[in-house]
Amino acid sequence: MRLRVDLLPHGHYPDVVLVIDTLRATTTAVTYLERGADALLLTSTPEVALGLKGEGFLLGGERGGLPIPGFDFGNSPVEAQPQNFTGKTVVMNTTNGTGASHVAAQTGKHVFLAALTNAHAAARRARAQATEEVAIVCAGTDERVGLEDVYTAGVIAEYLLALGEFSIDDGARIALTVRRNSGNPLEALSSSVHGARLSNLGLGEDVRYAAELSTSTVVPTLVQGDDVPEGTL
Ligand code: MLT
Repeated sequence: MRLRVDLLPHGHYPDVVLVIDTLRATTTAVTYLERGADALLLTSTPEVALGLKGEGFLLGGERGGLPIPGFDFGNSPVEAQPQNFTGKTVVMNTTNGTGASHVAAQTGKHVFLAALTNAHAAARRARAQATEEVAIVCAGTDERVGLEDVYTAGVIAEYLLALGEFSIDDGARIALTVRRNSGNPLEALSSSVHGARLSNLGLGEDVRYAAELSTSTVVPTLVQGDDVPEGTL
């Protein structure tokens, strides 16, 4: 079994893909489902999401870390955590995380969303599902590599290596090295460019929340159903 880590989303995935956007899209996606959401729709653009407003969906997302005008929520897991989303479908569009998910879904056979909060569960699910390769895809931020995502990939890679035999690529070796040299999860996330930006926006609580390790067993699974609106996953 192969294990690879792409430091940015790049293209062809033959088997299982774990998409990581720890600050904050995949952490928030896990939280929506933890809080009872029936499903998530990940749209390709904010316009597709806004086109779904008023059809019983809730809209959540951000640009530049701040809520998109017309959306019901930003992209804050701390904002989502106290809410009850039972029976709701949440439509998400974010700067990097939903786009990375669309890239993964173009070819990946089984695509899951991963973060630190569901890291162990995501590793177990990926190991159980894969037959040839687990690809961990880091969303990054504004098309730049994000330390927070590479660190998360290293955490998940460690879990995977404890679950079975893998041949690893240089991306996985980089992620493992980052994991082993960046301190604890909160230190790593706080030292990242995006983590510092969120803290400067007054969203430091989100960074602390996203640093909580394996607190959830929820593993969002992307399905491309025929009955979903155009431009969504
Ligand atoms: C992303 O898509 O990169 C993140 O969701 C950005 C954010 O939430 O601040």
